[in-house]
Amino acid sequence: MSTTTSASAPQPVLQARGLVKRYGNVTALDGCDFEVLPGEILAVIGDNGAGKSSLIKALSGATVPDEGEILLDGKPVKFRSPLDARARHRNRVSGTRGAPAMSIAENLFLARELLKPGWRGSIFKMIDKRRMLEEATAHMKDLQIGIRLMRQAVETLSGGQRQGVAVAVAVAVARSAAFARHVVILDEPTAALGVKEGNMVLELIRRVRDRGLPVILISHNMPHVFEVADRIHLQRLGRRAALVNTKDVHMSEAVAIMTGAKEADVKAIA
Ligand SMILES: Nc1ncnc2c1ncn2[C@@H]1O[C@H](COP(=O)(O)OP(=O)(O)OP(=O)(O)O)[C@@H](O)[C@H]1O
Ligand SMILES: [Mg+2]
Repeated sequence: MSTTTSASAPQPVLQARGLVKRYGNVTALDGCDFEVLPGEILAVIGDNGAGKSSLIKALSGATVPDEGEILLDGKPVKFRSPLDARARHRNRVSGTRGAPAMSIAENLFLARELLKPGWRGSIFKMIDKRRMLEEATAHMKDLQIGIRLMRQAVETLSGGQRQGVAVAVAVAVARSAAFARHVVILDEPTAALGVKEGNMVLELIRRVRDRGLPVILISHNMPHVFEVADRIHLQRLGRRAALVNTKDVHMSEAVAIMTGAKEADVKAIA
């Protein structure tokens, strides 16, 4: 099923057509379409093995699809190798993994450490921690994350593992928001979290969206999906079975489409 957009519709920030990805005999993506619009939270849901992670890997450049095309701001993105794809996307797309033993400031710069000016940076590759902290603080302030927490190792922040995970996720969201100018991708960001931490992450996701950055949220948590998502991409058997406005579908209906119990019909914007 493909999505038709009228002339007045906004251009998708990130779009894919007919993605195919095979792993040996397994076809993880089987002609998968995708689009995310500016400033929306798009949930990607589907059963285990439906190809959600494979889709995200292809979109973020972690893997190269065997077929199909990806467009960023309407322009085709061509990758020669996974490494090439990673280099291009490094500052655009982030996953959910933060490194717990590092400080938030260091986490923010995992993908692009700032080097000291002059020969100390260019020859000895010395990292400019002070400047990183300053920049990180400015970005985090935007997302209302405490400055005091910035210097502390993430793992020491909570004392509890769950909260540590929540903070790592928050860091990842912030990192994406700070440096990903295009889109934030989160694969199961609330999976290991308690109610309070989960809600904190949802709030952060909303804040990122409200700043104008689209968020792609992969989740098995239907209440979370229905709480925050503007639209839902339903992935089934390696393809997009439907793309729906969250307010137009019932949770049970979405699950039925997802599992194949129900064919996608009028509700699908396609
Ligand atoms: N690196 C890989 N090598 C071999 N097979 C793979 C690989 N990655 C994914 N697959 C297969 O591709 C299919 C889609 O997997 P994928 O991880 O994309 O599903 P998913 O929707 O993310 O599932 P889950 O909800 O369990 O995370 C599965 O059959 C999986 O076993
Ligand atoms: Mg997955």
